[in-house]
Amino acid sequence: MKTRLALFGPPGAGKGTQARLLGSRLGFTHISTGRILRQAKREGSAIGRVARAYIDKGRLVPDEVVYDLAARAIADAGWDRFVLDGFPRTLAQARWLASCLDGGGAPLDSVVLMSLSDDRVVARLSRRRVHKVTGENFHLDSKPPPESERSFIIQRKDDRPEAVRERLRIYHETTRPVADYYRRAGIMTVVDATGSFEDVHARIHGLVHAD
Ligand code: AP5
Repeated sequence: MKTRLALFGPPGAGKGTQARLLGSRLGFTHISTGRILRQAKREGSAIGRVARAYIDKGRLVPDEVVYDLAARAIADAGWDRFVLDGFPRTLAQARWLASCLDGGGAPLDSVVLMSLSDDRVVARLSRRRVHKVTGENFHLDSKPPPESERSFIIQRKDDRPEAVRERLRIYHETTRPVADYYRRAGIMTVVDATGSFEDVHARIHGLVHAD
């Protein structure tokens, strides 16, 4: 079984949704740099204040800001049984991660590229809503938030159309090429991210258990 995973893919591919399922069903620690940064932003910490301008416009936060957060989260997970969501996103981050994990004697087992067209990304993100306390993702069509929680449900600033366009541009220019790094390392698999939550989970679950 693979126990050190990274979910990779465009914004809105379902990385967070699937990482949560791996957490609840297989006991993986879900490490989302986006979630950690949003939390820092809400708390108004020094990192949060730096991150705010980048996140709200859909740009990548500088690599150096993310390294510390990622290193701490991986160490807190005990260097094993974790799933990275949204990290790494640049070639420099991928190289940093390799050296960080090698240092802990725990290289990545598998990188899953969740493949989704830009049109579907826009359809998913424009209808996404988030619980402002728990951070849980909803979708107005495929996973509507419960009526009782309505007052806690918000739309992320970076899900506005202009920020989504910027995130997609950065994904294609900067993040997508990182897949070649993992393809060369022989640990990357492409998974179709269309279909229901359970369909996609079944594909990833199969991969996690494959030899
Ligand atoms: P982050 O939070 O990581 O955003 P992202 O990668 O753009 O991904 P999303 O959270 O938008 O989408 P997702 O793939 O998790 O999809 P989800 O499961 O929500 O990062 C945010 C920002 O932080 C970045 O822009 C950057 O500024 C900064 N940042 C983070 N990490 C960084 C790093 N490493 N370096 C530098 N900066 C960094 O699903 C989307 C929607 O679709 C939901 O509504 C969901 O319910 C729905 N959905 C999911 N699966 C399905 C399905 N199978 N069928 C129907 N609907 C579905």
